[in-house]
Order: sequence, then structure tokens, then C-alpha cells
Amino acid sequence: MSLIQYFLANGPSGFGYGSTAEEVTAGLSLAGKTVLVTGCNSGLGLEALRVLALRGARVVGTARTVEKARTACAGVSGTTVPLACELTDPASVRACVAAVIHQGIKLDALICNAGIMALPKLEKAHGLDQALEKIAERPQVMLVDYHLHDRMDGLDALVALREAAGYPLPGALLTADGRDELKRMARERGYRVLTKPIKPASLRAFLGALRDAQ
Ligand SMILES: NC(=O)c1ccc[n+]([C@@H]2O[C@H](COP(=O)([O-])OP(=O)(O)OC[C@H]3O[C@@H](n4cnc5c(N)ncnc54)[C@H](OP(=O)(O)O)[C@@H]3O)[C@@H](O)[C@H]2O)c1
Repeated sequence: MSLIQYFLANGPSGFGYGSTAEEVTAGLSLAGKTVLVTGCNSGLGLEALRVLALRGARVVGTARTVEKARTACAGVSGTTVPLACELTDPASVRACVAAVIHQGIKLDALICNAGIMALPKLEKAHGLDQALEKIAERPQVMLVDYHLHDRMDGLDALVALREAAGYPLPGALLTADGRDELKRMARERGYRVLTKPIKPASLRAFLGALRDAQ
């Protein structure tokens, strides 16, 4: 048996690589059971939400925002409870747990599905020339310091890098310079200013907004 055949073949359960959630749960009644699925708005989490609810379970579907969870839950048949749970924010996780307890929900199963499989690569460039070399790798976002000690400042560098990229490469200017004038100039060129010391929450919000806009 070839390696590919080995992985494609069904296992002792009779299911395998090609089995669907509906096939695996065919004939199963989950009535009276409650399952919480994290990351219910996309991919495997959305399919788990759909099929568990289809089989009669009450499914607590969590997503980074309650709006995302509501949209996912509204799109499936069955009994669902949408809740927000942003896993990088302890306050959000605690609020989710509190909501589950407050609603008197007793969980039979927890599917910790939310996660990012292939994290985008973080690359550092020291100076404009090194950054220009990395443009060929088609970065998704640039974070550029205002004071570069280079032939141009960070704002001009952002513009030069975007021009070199040839696509609308988004970015932010990192600086301790809080002048409104600098923020205005950055805004006019389509960039956000992240003021130092940069709070992880600000960076996360900036990157999250970019991701949501994609
Ligand atoms: N698909 C595969 O072949 C495969 C293989 C091995 C393992 N996995 C694992 O299986 C899980 C689901 O994969 P998938 O392909 O269905 O991925 P996906 O479509 O990208 O879904 C990931 C889900 O996790 C959520 N999520 C990510 N970070 C989160 C955070 N900090 N807080 C709350 N929610 C967060 C996402 O929310 P947003 O949409 O808001 O970002 C999304 O709902 C992942 O953990 C992945 O690593 C997948």
C-alpha cells in the first residue's frame, strides 16, 4: 500500500479522510446533549456547529465577536446559543464562561476548535533596502518605525514600499511622536499611526480590522 493510499484508506471505525461529519453522525441522536464549539463561524467549527445541531444537540457556538457567532448560528437549523469568545483576550473568555454559567448551561462536550493552523510569517527588515528585498515575498502588512535613521522617514518608506509592491499593501507607522500633524499626514496616505509604547490590544485591533476587511 502506498503512503497516500494508507492515509486515504478508512480506519478501524470505518471512517477516514473522505468521511463527512454527516456520514459519521448518521443515525445518531444528540437530543438532550449540549456541546460548545469554539470558532463556530468558519471551516471545521461551522460544520461541527451545523451537524451537531442537525443531530439534535443544543450547540453553544462561540466566535471572536457575538455578531460573528450570531451569523453562524442563524445559518444553521436546530438549537444554538451564540456567544462571544476571543481566545487571546482573557476578559472575553471569562465573560463567555460567565454567560454559560449564568444561562444555566451544563456542557456535555467542548470542542476547542478555534485556532490558526498556519501562522503568517513575521519578518523583520533592518532598513529600507532590506524591506524592499522582502517585497517579493508579497507581505500582507507592514509595520514601520517613523525614525528609521535611513535615507527617508518611516512614512515615506511605507509609501515607497507600497509603490514597489504594486498592490495596496497596508501598513502602520510606529512612533512615540504624538503630533496630530504626523497622524494627519499618515492618514492622508492611507496609514494608521500606532503610538509607542504600543499596547498589544491596539496592534491586535489594527491587524484584526485588516483581516476583517479582507
Ligand atoms: N483544516 C485543516 O486541514 C486542519 C488540519 C489540522 C488542524 N486544524 C485545526 O482545526 C481548527 C479549525 O481549522 P479550520 O481549517 O476550520 O480553520 P478556520 O476556517 O481558519 O477557522 C478557525 C476558526 O478559529 C477562530 N479563531 C482563530 N483564532 C481565534 C481566537 N484567538 N479567538 C477566537 N476564535 C479564533 C477563527 O475565527 P475568525 O474567523 O474570526 O478568525 C475561525 O472561526 C484550527 O484550530 C486548525 O488549526 C485544521
